[in-house]
Amino acid sequence: VRCFAVVPAAGSGKRMGAAVPKQYLELLGRPVLQHTLERLLAVAAVERVVVALAADDPRWPALLAASDPRVMTTIGGAERGDSVLAGLRALAAEAGPDDWVMVHDAARPCLRPDDVEKLLAELKGDPVGGILALPSVDTLKEVEGRDIVATVDRSRIWRALTPQLFRYRLLTEALERALAAGATITDEASAVEWAGRRPKIVEGHPGNIKITRPEDLPLAEFYLRQ
Ligand code: C5P
Repeated sequence: VRCFAVVPAAGSGKRMGAAVPKQYLELLGRPVLQHTLERLLAVAAVERVVVALAADDPRWPALLAASDPRVMTTIGGAERGDSVLAGLRALAAEAGPDDWVMVHDAARPCLRPDDVEKLLAELKGDPVGGILALPSVDTLKEVEGRDIVATVDRSRIWRALTPQLFRYRLLTEALERALAAGATITDEASAVEWAGRRPKIVEGHPGNIKITRPEDLPLAEFYLRQ
């Protein structure tokens, strides 16, 4: 079984409020996306990485990882799911139906290669796939307006991280159908669940944060230095 990766990097990063999209903000002197790709490429099992970019991305050509022989690009779409689907389609000539494809956010530069190895090892032989996730440490409240209406059973709640690892054909078909049906798809697992399958969870490292707000930048630098 071969293993490929898709990195959606076509977002504009509105919540960051910066002039530069968050995947190009600098951490320890290098762009977020450079860190992310280096960490994925550090996993020997990953044969190829497809990066889905915005159509008019002026920063990509200067990125060191752009010249890596295992890296190729495609144009992303309006939503994260559209960008991922574009990346999956770019692999159509290479990936077999049961090959693995791992989708990893460009905005998660602190990925540990160990976590990827663990995900691959724990899902070996699984017919569907699964995701890195973290148990919730906070007590969770269901809210209407500002009124708490329920306390959610925390032991059943996990936070979805990436990479999310699935069989190539299963993920591509699930995503195509879910997007066509207008389902709310915020990660790959949600498309696979929508298609009636049950992805597994594998506990990840809490340092695998998604750069979303300005205060995430020093935190990411802290984890990158470890
Ligand atoms: O905005 P959010 O943090 O959920 O984005 C997660 C990832 O999806 C980011 O790496 C972002 O660049 C990517 N994305 C994309 N295409 C979009 C929207 C987001 O590739 N249309």
